[in-house]
Amino acid sequence: MKVLVTGGAGYIGSVTCAALEAAGHTPVVLDSLLSGPREFVEGRAFYEGDIADRSLLRRVLSDHPDLDCTIHMAARIVVPESVAEPYLYYRDNVAKSLELFDELVALGKPRVVFSSSASLYAPAEDFEVTEESPLDPPSPYARTKHMVEQILTDLSRATELRAVILRYFNPLGSDPGLGSGVYQREPSHVIGQLTLAAMGLKDAFAITGTQHPTRDGTGLRDYVHVWDLARAHVAAVERFDTVLHRVAAPSTVLNIGTGRGVTVRELLHAFETVFGREVPTVEAQPRPGDAVGAFANVDKAREVLGWEAEHTLDDAIASALAWAERRHEVLGYR
Ligand SMILES: NC(=O)c1ccc[n+]([C@@H]2O[C@H](COP(=O)([O-])OP(=O)(O)OC[C@H]3O[C@@H](n4cnc5c(N)ncnc54)[C@H](O)[C@@H]3O)[C@@H](O)[C@H]2O)c1
Repeated sequence: MKVLVTGGAGYIGSVTCAALEAAGHTPVVLDSLLSGPREFVEGRAFYEGDIADRSLLRRVLSDHPDLDCTIHMAARIVVPESVAEPYLYYRDNVAKSLELFDELVALGKPRVVFSSSASLYAPAEDFEVTEESPLDPPSPYARTKHMVEQILTDLSRATELRAVILRYFNPLGSDPGLGSGVYQREPSHVIGQLTLAAMGLKDAFAITGTQHPTRDGTGLRDYVHVWDLARAHVAAVERFDTVLHRVAAPSTVLNIGTGRGVTVRELLHAFETVFGREVPTVEAQPRPGDAVGAFANVDKAREVLGWEAEHTLDDAIASALAWAERRHEVLGYR
């Protein structure tokens, strides 16, 4: 199959392209390189530009009339920036997605797999959320994801558009070939912070929030190996029509996580075991907007998509560390 991947130069997009290739499919990347690095599209069909550029989309489709499906990942993703610059987020994530969907329908390419987020969920008492659980997106970023879900639902009722919406939990790690991974120079994500503290490059790893109503007081997440997440897209593309047939609807939402909640302290211990060194820690106040967290009920993904996570947390940590060692060869910086 041939698959248009918007945002295919990004972290999850580039790993998804590698997973599509590993399954014998051909990704075609559309990315503005707003944040994703050019190195991640090397060797792939690549169009540099904006998702709302209709003439560019028409060119992509005239070059690749055999596209089967679009995976729409392109977005701005920095939560604090979305609070400071909501206009940019609503324009790029919502308004531009609308242009993309409308043009795809006009071009007769109505199958869309959309990258949504577990950050949409309202806090749940036992932390487990199904696709039917209440939503309460806490930031402009999360609200853009909610709005695009609603747009896809409405378009799918009124037009030829069909949508499989994947709500990702917390991706970790790299692709097994170590071709791409997290590319930010100063990683704010948890494994980057743990690595810096373990290597003495920062004084200590800050456990932000220790009074949460979890088993050890720290926040809880469902960490999914990014390769498993990428494989979920392969399944969504391959089984697109079957999935919608099974749910008997023109669009559907699927949780993509492991089904297991891991607290910050548990993550720290797993990291120390895999890394083989203790990490100095300090306890700190929760950051503004920090959520207690959630983990996925993955029954629907298992039943409808035939997908489940195969990798362990230790696998994901080892993969993140292997990429951290290698990434200067790909990106030119450590
Ligand atoms: N990383 C996570 O933890 C996480 C969790 C849930 C959902 N998601 C979603 O997954 C998707 C991919 O996330 P990621 O972590 O790989 O982010 P990323 O920033 O690495 O990738 C996004 C890509 O989109 C491109 N892009 C942005 N705006 C564009 C535009 N208007 N036109 C063309 N290209 C554009 C960027 O250059 C970048 O390469 C996003 O939609 C994000 O909201 C990510």
